[in-house]
Amino acid sequence: MKMGGTDSKAMESGYEEMMKELYDMAAAATINAYAPFSGFRVGAALLADSGKVYTGVNVENSSYGASICAERTALVKAVSEGERRFTAIAIAAVADGPVESLPCGICRQFMYEFSPEIYIITGTDRERLNVQSLKELLPLGFALDAAGR
Ligand code: THU
Repeated sequence: MKMGGTDSKAMESGYEEMMKELYDMAAAATINAYAPFSGFRVGAALLADSGKVYTGVNVENSSYGASICAERTALVKAVSEGERRFTAIAIAAVADGPVESLPCGICRQFMYEFSPEIYIITGTDRERLNVQSLKELLPLGFALDAAGR
């Protein structure tokens, strides 16, 4: 497993299997993606601090701008069940075949609201996953409190 930033042996050993399982759940979820317009099917599996996993898929709409990404679907499901803190999110995508897909900017900001240091797991193969912290992908996200409200 390739980790962004500083390598952490503890992360490698303690969480590697959990990350693979989370990725498997994201990949399994892609079957439920509703992507008739792009043909780009995305699945996400979000691990909450409670230990529960919430999956999500992209849900497109004839009015394209009304579409929602897989990551935000998972977050909205989890937050609406009372979750507020998250450890990791795995993302799997299928176009013609499996493709690596990083979260879009809106999804990064959406995650930042709840867990600015969440781990983001991507890849096309459970044996070769890439793990990066949201801190790396969105180092300076927006927070209303920090803006001096
Ligand atoms: N998509 C996601 O589900 N997550 C992302 O982070 C990027 C894009 C979806 C939105 C749309 O349904 C399709 O991928 C093509 O953009």
